[in-house]
Amino acid sequence: MAVCSFKVINCCAQKPSITTFEQFKTQLLSSFQPLISDLKKVPKKLVLVPHAIIKNTSTELLHTFTDSVFKFIDHQTDPSQSNFGPVEEIGECINVIDVQGTIPSDFPEGVYIRNGPNPLFGGFKSTKSIFGRSSHIWVEGEGMLHALYFKKQSDGKWSLTYNNKHVETDTLKIEKQRNTPSFLPAIEGDSPAILSAYLLNFLRFGAVNKLLSNTNVFEHSGKFYAVAENHLPQEIDIRTLKTLGNWDVNGSWNRPFTAHPKKAPGSGELVMMGVDAMKPFFEIGIISDDGSKLVHKADLKFERCSLCHDIGVTMRYNVILDFPLTIDIKRLTNGGPLIKYNKEGYARIGVMPRYGDADSVKWFQVETCCVFHIINAYEDGDEVILWAFRASTSIIPGPDLGINKFEWFSTRFKAKCDTTFDSDESFFSQAYEWRLNMKTGEVKERFLTGKSHSMDFPMINENFTGYKNKYAYAQVVDLDASCIAGMPKYGGLAKLHFGDTKQQDYVKMEHHKLPNNTFCTGAAFVAKPGGTEEDDGWVIAFVHDEQLNTSRVIIVDAKNFAREPVVIMTLPNRVPYGFHGAFMPIILGSSDPCRHKRDGSRHHHAGGGVLLMRKTRRR
Ligand SMILES: [Fe+2]
Repeated sequence: MAVCSFKVINCCAQKPSITTFEQFKTQLLSSFQPLISDLKKVPKKLVLVPHAIIKNTSTELLHTFTDSVFKFIDHQTDPSQSNFGPVEEIGECINVIDVQGTIPSDFPEGVYIRNGPNPLFGGFKSTKSIFGRSSHIWVEGEGMLHALYFKKQSDGKWSLTYNNKHVETDTLKIEKQRNTPSFLPAIEGDSPAILSAYLLNFLRFGAVNKLLSNTNVFEHSGKFYAVAENHLPQEIDIRTLKTLGNWDVNGSWNRPFTAHPKKAPGSGELVMMGVDAMKPFFEIGIISDDGSKLVHKADLKFERCSLCHDIGVTMRYNVILDFPLTIDIKRLTNGGPLIKYNKEGYARIGVMPRYGDADSVKWFQVETCCVFHIINAYEDGDEVILWAFRASTSIIPGPDLGINKFEWFSTRFKAKCDTTFDSDESFFSQAYEWRLNMKTGEVKERFLTGKSHSMDFPMINENFTGYKNKYAYAQVVDLDASCIAGMPKYGGLAKLHFGDTKQQDYVKMEHHKLPNNTFCTGAAFVAKPGGTEEDDGWVIAFVHDEQLNTSRVIIVDAKNFAREPVVIMTLPNRVPYGFHGAFMPIILGSSDPCRHKRDGSRHHHAGGGVLLMRKTRRR
């Protein structure tokens, strides 16, 4: 499976060339010696120089030191990985006129928007220094938004425009200003290299790592946010894709923020959590439905920093995952990996009242596994049911240093058909059910799908979040293509029919296979306005034809799922593979999201406008 980025402090440190932390400290101090010597040479009269000048001078010395000690090295990429590579900002909206098929007349106006990594400064580089090597992992890269605007004109015809833009986090602004890779990779590599990268990043820029904001896009109270779980959400102007700044809920939330907050059924409050490498490891927060205030916050007193990526909600409860993919700074300073999946470790699922605290969580021990994305959770009598995609191991953080990374990823995608491979180390991801009895404490767990398709990136009709749903949709891994690329590629979409799951071995699955060499990302469910059934709607997705190097957006009728897409829109620009997408049903009115459309015979088309409206209220 592919995953979103995990960057609370994310790295995998192994086999340091400097074997103990004491040696590392000695080495670090000796490396800083030239800098310290330079500082000693500073005339004493500088004491009278304004503080800002001293600070600027010190920072420049740190930059000089870093640039002289750390050398950036380009990564080699395989042609099969080409669409993971970045694109440039187009800078202006472009009309989309190459449309095959017909956009349904009852399709909602709005914006289909997707987030994903688009490395700008150093994403495809590693560093080499006296401390060893450090590099990013494949999910790294500054977040870029790709948006397709659907505007219905007065004559009933559709006007389509496309735009893209980087999410301008504070750290991206710094690197843009310096116009050079500045943050040292602190993701994987030798422990001393990672630790010194953290230190130098913090001293130079006030942050240990980049704020990438590259994972998801969500709406709350009519406002739109790009988010990755290591930082606060970035508010976005949905019309222009400009970044408006950090959302700290009026100063009440100053820690990481999950990329998958959930609207609580009924109240419309936003349930979210923040996972941090330092205590408190896990705090849950509930934001008012108007987004103005944090109405509840609780430290769940985790004993470890579990890389919990998603959270579930039911009518009354929050559902918490505590699985043994952990961040451990102490482990890093002892020369081990900062992020590690421990298949021997405990796994538990917590169910807590919406406004509960650490004492009111009811914990259920479950079989150890790896879960990133929840499909849905709901209550059924005394039971809380949780559905999610589950694999035997984690695609994050990747292999130990020295191991062939390409081979490591490839073999784990191949595990299904390779009987000699340890299936406990497979990325193969299946839909899974936990039934948690709140009265007896009993847990029943089972697979909902078999070994025919590996899936992830679930989506449902969001009007059913927290309620029993009959359908879910997901992206299907193309195992062969993923093997070749050593990166996850999704060659199709799936519709799961849950029905009465108690009486079935596996749930029914429909498969929408994409053409050869074509892969999707950011798929989202679009509910039909006024729809009466749960699957009244469409699945929309970005797809890329690697043979033609052409990106498109497709719309698939959810009720006729295996059929050809009802419409295929060819985009004027390449859209790299990324993470999560969402359809924001907003009314497009008089203001124009594309004031400066690019002219061109291919792209010429009358424009539309956007007027923000609150998203349809969930039931
Ligand atoms: Fe995710």
